Amino acid sequence: MADTDADGFEVIGVTPATVLKGGTLSAGGGLLLQVRSAIQRLGDGQVLEVQSAEPAVKEELAAWSRLTGNQMLADLDAGDHTRYFIRKGASGVPREKPDWGIKLPRRPGGRLDMRDWFVGRLGDVPEEAPAYLGFVPRGAVREPGMPEFPYTLNRRPEVWADNIADLYEQATAQQWNASTDIAWDSLPRLPDDVERAVCQVMTFLAENEYAALYIPSRFLPRINAQYTEVVLFLATVINDEARHIEAFTKRAVANGGGLQYSASLTEWSLHSLLVQEDYFQSSFLLHVLGEGTFLDLLDFLARFAPDPVTADVVRRARQDEGRHVAYGIAHVREQLRADPTKSEALVTAAEERSAVLQATTGANPMVMEALAIISGGGSLPEQMARGVEAVRALFNDMHEYRVRRMLQLGLDEATAQKISRLHTPNFM
Ligand SMILES: [Fe+2]
Ligand SMILES: [Fe+2]
Repeated sequence: MADTDADGFEVIGVTPATVLKGGTLSAGGGLLLQVRSAIQRLGDGQVLEVQSAEPAVKEELAAWSRLTGNQMLADLDAGDHTRYFIRKGASGVPREKPDWGIKLPRRPGGRLDMRDWFVGRLGDVPEEAPAYLGFVPRGAVREPGMPEFPYTLNRRPEVWADNIADLYEQATAQQWNASTDIAWDSLPRLPDDVERAVCQVMTFLAENEYAALYIPSRFLPRINAQYTEVVLFLATVINDEARHIEAFTKRAVANGGGLQYSASLTEWSLHSLLVQEDYFQSSFLLHVLGEGTFLDLLDFLARFAPDPVTADVVRRARQDEGRHVAYGIAHVREQLRADPTKSEALVTAAEERSAVLQATTGANPMVMEALAIISGGGSLPEQMARGVEAVRALFNDMHEYRVRRMLQLGLDEATAQKISRLHTPNFM
């Protein structure tokens, strides 16, 4: 049996290669710096003894050792101080190291672009991400023993789109302010019938925008934070939709009109979109079909707007929607490419939603009338007749472009036609 050593070495059976006297230094106040440089000078398997009179360093040295792949062997009470024994690189787990020395390129004008950050550990977007990675920024070195987060979307294809970094950069560059970027001052007084029609359409648009805001908000916390770019992009979508609600509501009240009627069809339609639990099906219904159809509606409104202010509002919203649709198309297309049988889930989603909506009134007469008044230029019979024609053409365009977007996804013509005909008469 070994002699009982007053120093207690035999208790742990090691002899430290170096002793570091830490005094009362706190971990963050200089002790870790010294520990790090002392460990660097040791060979693998050698032991560093750290002496410290500061009680709080016990947990901190243990955490530091776990993070850096070293092993805290023991701590011994030595009266006025504690002795900690740390073995270099012997924790059993391969030592991970944070990145160092990877400098991102600058784009013209000194831009630092998300598209260029796919290098080193940060650039390694995992196919699958464990839920215990929580909020650990992708690329950081984590300490073991972290809690599981309530993510349900933990695989890259479930959320990813190959253009996601481009879309994020566009989104941040194209933000606008609905208070100051619109020339509200120059909104002219309109004939009552036209103003009322604009207010009715703005009411309808704002109502739909709530769905566009709530749906990505529901899914965002389910997405594993390792898919940073998707999470950040959805945050811009949510901000866009908030601004759309704001801008459409402001336009409704700006000229003394006010918010008009909400139809039950709209609420049933948006409700059926909101309760969709599957992100793939939801992305398709919202971003490809719903917002895609809205692109054509907003285009129509920009073309026939009775004043430049209304035109500006819908044009700006349309530019934002273009990004949301682009994400939806890229995301759904990638999934279909990986697994073409997933197209059945899209047909099912459209069929199920259509069945729910069959039970409701299939029309939104106030909105249809308002669109006809706006595009006809007024409510005289000949104006209305022109307007009704224009709305009919809009419906044809909406159908045609919906089909075209679905062909971009890789769906066949017959399936695209079928789904487009099942699409909600509410547009979204
Ligand atoms: Fe929107
Ligand atoms: Fe949108």
